[in-house]
Amino acid sequence: MSHDAVPVGEATLLQQACDKYQSSFGRAAVAASSAPGRVNLIGEHVDYCEGYVLPVAIPFVTVVVGGYNDTDECHVISVLANGDVVSTAFPATSVAKLTPGEPAWANYVKGTVSKFPKPVQGFNMAITSDVPMGAGLSSSASLEVAVCTFLEVLTGLTVDPVEKARLCQSAEHEFPGVPCGVMDQYIVSMAKKDTALLIDCRSFGSTHVPMKTGDYVVLVTNSNVKHKLTGSEYPQRRAQCEEAASRLGLPSLRSAKTADLERLKQMNCDELVLRRAQHVIEEIERTQQVAKSFRENDLERVGRLFYESHESMSKLMEISCPELDELVRIIRPAPGVLGARMTGGGFGGCVVTLVKKDQVDNLKKLILSKYRGDPVFFVCQPSDGAKGIKL
Ligand code: GLA
Repeated sequence: MSHDAVPVGEATLLQQACDKYQSSFGRAAVAASSAPGRVNLIGEHVDYCEGYVLPVAIPFVTVVVGGYNDTDECHVISVLANGDVVSTAFPATSVAKLTPGEPAWANYVKGTVSKFPKPVQGFNMAITSDVPMGAGLSSSASLEVAVCTFLEVLTGLTVDPVEKARLCQSAEHEFPGVPCGVMDQYIVSMAKKDTALLIDCRSFGSTHVPMKTGDYVVLVTNSNVKHKLTGSEYPQRRAQCEEAASRLGLPSLRSAKTADLERLKQMNCDELVLRRAQHVIEEIERTQQVAKSFRENDLERVGRLFYESHESMSKLMEISCPELDELVRIIRPAPGVLGARMTGGGFGGCVVTLVKKDQVDNLKKLILSKYRGDPVFFVCQPSDGAKGIKL
């Protein structure tokens, strides 16, 4: 069995979506879009604290095709990775207000349609995707932003890309009910090839950071421990960070300084709340330092900050899991490795490793021989963000 994740490719996914659309709805699709998944290099669980994050888009994409159907209903089919097809239907927003419900996957589509700034008439839609699900690579944001971009093409109404990210984020809050930050939708909407994006989640501004890593690459290792953000852990972390900020009388932990941790202690603040605050304050600083170090080509420093970040996620934020910790332990002493950390929402998903190109194969072999799970690898190639596709 291959342990390498290879993108199916946008062209093939587009063809599959158009073929399925034609055979299911008896007509050709007229509008299309695609949107990538993402991997976060650093800045974890700080976007909802208005901090800095540094993600990149990856060459795995969701493709959406479709067209108006001259009815008051929307019909959506989605082709899963194993070839199975799932479908759903809901009223057009030109005639009704949408509400969340079953099936769960449809909430990402319905939420985005519902938040689109203009009522939409009935349409048919087919979705294909090669973004791994439950791997912490933002298959949800990829779907939301692909749907929103499709609606732009369909209706002719252009949405500013930052607005689009915020609109999709609020769709995720209200429909699947995940109180996520803005990072995933933002990078999926705004990414540029060969760059990471330093996003300021307070001002919603961002700067592209060229990923000139020379002899090094970022290897993504999927632990294959499925992560889920719809459980209670993610909202709990967010609530703990908000409690820390509110006890300090601050709008968010973005405005907090290391000295504020002492103030929290003096207030007899809950130990867990204190640890979360420490993670956030230090992780925001680390993220800016990593962006700076990439610009200065100081990859060794990037690596050290990756390790510090992982340690903090494991011990202070407590969002790692035994498998992710084990991966970092295995990776750390390997030749050519500068740094590694878990990435994404946590409790499963992936590890990112900054490693010398000519050591990638050796590292993969080492992980395969020592890791208890069933890992899947890909080398991260920073890709473009969402776009409409001409048919
Ligand atoms: C998930 C959320 C993001 C962010 C990360 C953790 O991916 O959707 O908003 O909080 O977790 O950094």
